[in-house]
Amino acid sequence: MPEPSKGRLKIGMLGAGAAAQWYYLPATQHWNDRLQLTAVCDVDEARAGQFADQYGGTAYGDYEAMLGDPEVDAVAVLTPHRFHTEQVIAALQAGKHVLVEKPMAEGFSDAVQVCEIAERNGLHVSCAPPNMLHPGQRRLMEIVAKGVIGKINLIKMSQNSMGPGARPGAPTDFSWFYQSGAGGMSSMAGYGLVRLTGVLGGVKSLAAMSTTSIPERVMRDGPAAGKRVSADVPDNNVIVFDMGNDTLGTMDTGYVAMSSESPMMSLFGNDGTIEVYGGDQVLRIRLYRDDWKTNVDGWQDVDIPGLDTRWALHPATLLSLADAVLDGKPLLNGPRQLAHVIEFIEKVWVSAESGQRVDMTSDYTPPTWDELPVETSDGKFGLV
Ligand SMILES: NC(=O)c1ccc[n+]([C@@H]2O[C@H](COP(=O)([O-])OP(=O)(O)OC[C@H]3O[C@@H](n4cnc5c(N)ncnc54)[C@H](O)[C@@H]3O)[C@@H](O)[C@H]2O)c1
Repeated sequence: MPEPSKGRLKIGMLGAGAAAQWYYLPATQHWNDRLQLTAVCDVDEARAGQFADQYGGTAYGDYEAMLGDPEVDAVAVLTPHRFHTEQVIAALQAGKHVLVEKPMAEGFSDAVQVCEIAERNGLHVSCAPPNMLHPGQRRLMEIVAKGVIGKINLIKMSQNSMGPGARPGAPTDFSWFYQSGAGGMSSMAGYGLVRLTGVLGGVKSLAAMSTTSIPERVMRDGPAAGKRVSADVPDNNVIVFDMGNDTLGTMDTGYVAMSSESPMMSLFGNDGTIEVYGGDQVLRIRLYRDDWKTNVDGWQDVDIPGLDTRWALHPATLLSLADAVLDGKPLLNGPRQLAHVIEFIEKVWVSAESGQRVDMTSDYTPPTWDELPVETSDGKFGLV
């Protein structure tokens, strides 16, 4: 039985845009035994007021005012990427725990600073993307750890989309996603890199090419429908990387792929192949074995116990933060892994500009698969 909880985590939501409206605000209602929304802040004060009225809490137009609110234990940073470093550090300095949407900071040195401030002050930073919290990731790590496909030699990854502005149903103006301080790689690469490093640990070195393939974007829908935006961050990135242990990989990431039925990640081992499907999380795993000894021959689907696509998506990071703060459980989506991911992204720019292979300086050792949470059928972490 899990330890009894010491109450609810009081959340101040910073940024009431799409991610808040689609995922995080409803999650505070769905998991209201673990989470209590006590404040909503947005530079658009009317928007903050609208969602504070709908979901509860005090409305703020200025995040520094919200950081002074004693009714806020943890701040969920859901603003455009260029504000993350400043707002995460300010929240930590105000003694608040933090949830931060991707990316956790702008650059690698910022990310290290966030880790150090949090560690020095005994505060938690729960980081998106939440792949480490999903049952499919646990299953994937289990299969690899048990040596089902033997030593892994080659990895192929694709983490691409057409970008949020290309989707129907935009509640806000998504043009900032294509401009400096953001971009396809800072949005997309983290999903695949958390998945990869969660299975195989840190990347040792990389070489990359980057370009801007679609220099002008047109917002398809929502309040900015029809707006033309020039993209000032490369949207098309192809990377070759070395995991050590004679294991090499390739990855494409950015905002240039409308759709794909190919796996998001393929692992090629001495004794078989694993294909992983799903964008934000592992939704399907296929396994190939050619094994005359056990009679397992050809492709098969691997079951994923506890898969819950609705509630397990982004706000799993809020629950894991509540588990860490209230019950002292280890935070499995912590900032050291994401700092490594941010260094990877930064080194892609260095390599693309210099034309040189670049070594990583940070490393990451993942937890073992059985340390990852198991989800019950209602999507809550616990024992099954
Ligand atoms: N849009 C998506 O599909 C999606 C999906 C998952 C995660 N995310 C992540 O969620 C985060 C937010 O993205 P979004 O899509 O919700 O963007 P958005 O533009 O819809 O919302 C951002 C909100 O932040 C507010 N804001 C801007 N600057 C602020 C400031 N200085 N202080 C307070 N509020 C401020 C804006 O007014 C807006 O309401 C990003 O990190 C993004 O990567 C987005």
